[in-house]
Amino acid sequence: MCGIVGYVGNKKAASILYNGLKRLEYRGYDSSGIAVNDGLHIDVVKRKGKLKDLKNEIKNDMNGGTIGIGHTRWATHGQPSDINSHPHSNCKDNFVIVHNGIIENFRQIKDHLIKKGHHFKSETDTEVIAHLLEENNQGNILQALKKTAEQLKGSYAMTILAADEPNRIYAARKDSPLIIGLGENENYIASDIPAFLGETRDFYILEDNEFAVIKKDKVDIYNNNLEQIDKKTHRIDWDPEMAEKQGYEHYMLKEIHEQPDAVRRLMAHRVSQTGINLEELKLDQDFLKRLNKIHIIACGTAYHSALLGKYMLEDLVDLKVETDVASEYRYRKVPIEKDDLVIAVSQSGETSDTLASLRMAKEKGAQILVFTNTRGSSIAREADHLMLLKAGPEISVASTKAYLNMIVAFYIFSIFLAYQKAKISLEEYKKLSTDLIKLPELIEEIIEDSGELIKKRAKKYAESKSAFFIGRHTDYPLAMEGALKLKEISYIHSEAYPAGELKHGALALIEKGVPVVAVAVRKDIFEKTLSNITEVEARQADVTVVVCKGAQEIEDIVDHVIYIPDVNQLFAGALAIIPLQLLAYYTALLKDCDIDQPRNLAKSVTVE
Ligand code: F6R
Repeated sequence: MCGIVGYVGNKKAASILYNGLKRLEYRGYDSSGIAVNDGLHIDVVKRKGKLKDLKNEIKNDMNGGTIGIGHTRWATHGQPSDINSHPHSNCKDNFVIVHNGIIENFRQIKDHLIKKGHHFKSETDTEVIAHLLEENNQGNILQALKKTAEQLKGSYAMTILAADEPNRIYAARKDSPLIIGLGENENYIASDIPAFLGETRDFYILEDNEFAVIKKDKVDIYNNNLEQIDKKTHRIDWDPEMAEKQGYEHYMLKEIHEQPDAVRRLMAHRVSQTGINLEELKLDQDFLKRLNKIHIIACGTAYHSALLGKYMLEDLVDLKVETDVASEYRYRKVPIEKDDLVIAVSQSGETSDTLASLRMAKEKGAQILVFTNTRGSSIAREADHLMLLKAGPEISVASTKAYLNMIVAFYIFSIFLAYQKAKISLEEYKKLSTDLIKLPELIEEIIEDSGELIKKRAKKYAESKSAFFIGRHTDYPLAMEGALKLKEISYIHSEAYPAGELKHGALALIEKGVPVVAVAVRKDIFEKTLSNITEVEARQADVTVVVCKGAQEIEDIVDHVIYIPDVNQLFAGALAIIPLQLLAYYTALLKDCDIDQPRNLAKSVTVE
């Protein structure tokens, strides 16, 4: 949730760290700080607020020091303040640390250390690590770090500067990501790839319970027994420009516009007019034949894609499909058979609840298929079968292009599975694959066409206190996603209902002028949704309907209609979601909200 960066080389570290933090600002942003060692001592600057508040405090490139660490914080322990911002240090200020994650036993450790005479400056869990290091240090810092790690319960990704060893950064991780970027006579460390996009393309992934010592000309990695180990180098396939705004006012708008290309990238080499190629998944034919239940686990927006995936799989493959939000699933006693497939969906690949659910399912013997946008992420690495979403870096906290690619990944997988399990004919298989290939162009069309009408509709929403989204069947998870997008970036209370469920309670809230968005692109159930639209219309709600071209009769009932191209109803969701994303965006824009970094939210939720 927070962001970590580190640099060691010959260049001035302060500006490199600041730029790295800027690229990670989307991960956590209530405060930030950097520490630079200029060879004589470690200088720390930290501030509550946005990164620009920190920038004003960085003077003289912090004496030109060429080694340092930095952090953007999303508060967990202790409110956002200058003091609680990272980096933190011990009593003598000779260990300076930044940390992501949560130290669950920090109170016990803190009480114990206070009794031993340590003085604490902040309310954070992180500070105990610095004091514990001081306590454990008998002259070998790596050993002190290992001993410290053994005493910590919870999750951590941490990087440390030690005043006595000014040429190196120490690092350790457990259940929170850290990657090490490799350069020429300089090296980087970060919690997230975008931090050093543009500086280097080659990186190591630090695994749980490993330690790293990073110098400018050498990176040494150690296992839990402090034996030095060899690491495989990974290569980043994202371009640095992919993570820039490129003239758009916000990343979110840019990412909405990138969706046609994101879907093209996802389908390239996988979908053709002759069918689907998913050899990369290495799924055993016999297993697929035996497979009769799928569990799909995810959080937030990814969970909404999972719900849509459930309908797709039921429709096309006639399978039992269970979906649950990962924070619930992980604590349920879910019966999992060895022939079940568990699909974990995650943009970041680091969501703590999704990872824990995946591990729980794995322990029970399930095979794990992962849809993620992040190569090398923790969830990707624990997968038995991996489908990379290829949406490119998603910077806006509100997910758009990764979500769309999740939906399309479910389309691809459902068609593939339906054919493998002989649920559809060769002819249907080719027809569905051919329909899929047409999606990017249709997505382009809807982005082009819907903008102006939606800007007008956004005015109504911007002055409303709450809004309802309704739909049936696959239109319902789309309504849920529309409601989530609106609430998270415009702070307007919004709720999604299965359209047929309204009359069982929520209809009591529908009165004159209440905004209702109805998603009605599912043709086989259109008439039913229409009845529900009539119900809210009769109570003088302000109704906007998203519908396929060709259903013009809707104009006799409601004033505001957004048409999407007429498409195979199985895939209509990939188009219908675009106006909902744009509605949220333009509403938030009118309300002058911080669209890319909505309050209290972070891009990657690595804590429970
Ligand atoms: C909302 C949003 C979140 C994430 C959720 C899961 O726009 O982005 O709801 O979908 O935090 O994140 P990932 O997909 O990284 O597991």
